[in-house]
Amino acid sequence: MVLRKARLLAEERGVGERVRFVQGDLTAAAIPGVDGSFDLLVDYGTLDDLRGAPRPRMADTVERLSRPGSVFLLWCFYAAPDELPWSSFHGPSRLAPAIAPGEEEELFGVAFTIERLPEPEPGSQAACFLMTRRHPRTRPLH
Ligand SMILES: C[S@@+](CC[C@H](N)C(=O)[O-])C[C@H]1O[C@@H](n2cnc3c(N)ncnc32)[C@H](O)[C@@H]1O
Repeated sequence: MVLRKARLLAEERGVGERVRFVQGDLTAAAIPGVDGSFDLLVDYGTLDDLRGAPRPRMADTVERLSRPGSVFLLWCFYAAPDELPWSSFHGPSRLAPAIAPGEEEELFGVAFTIERLPEPEPGSQAACFLMTRRHPRTRPLH
């Protein structure tokens, strides 16, 4: 359903021939049909949708599909759990927690240089990070 919508949008924008859509599990050790490495990786709201061990497993995927010089752009809900309401239909909550401050460093700091972009503003419970891959993998995958 989502991929069908994405294909239609790509056709509408005239780039349908240049885009290959793949359905896969970003927390798996491999995604059939997807071999890195890529210059640019983008996540808009998937990492923060995961809980527990799947988050570091997705970080492993980003690392696996990147190489020194690759850029990873991450948009995520970003707030400490105790700043969040118990539940929310429109954003993060204690039941569906955001990326906690510092968690981006734990997940990606070994291999990436991380810059927080000015928008969304600190305090908005969302953040965008521009991460540049520094060096070859130095730690075992999770
Ligand atoms: C909050 S939605 C964001 C979707 C989209 N980026 C957007 O802005 O509309 C989170 C997405 O992550 C996907 N997702 C959750 N776990 C995943 C996984 N292990 N591998 C790949 N995608 C996953 C869900 O299917 C869902 O489409």
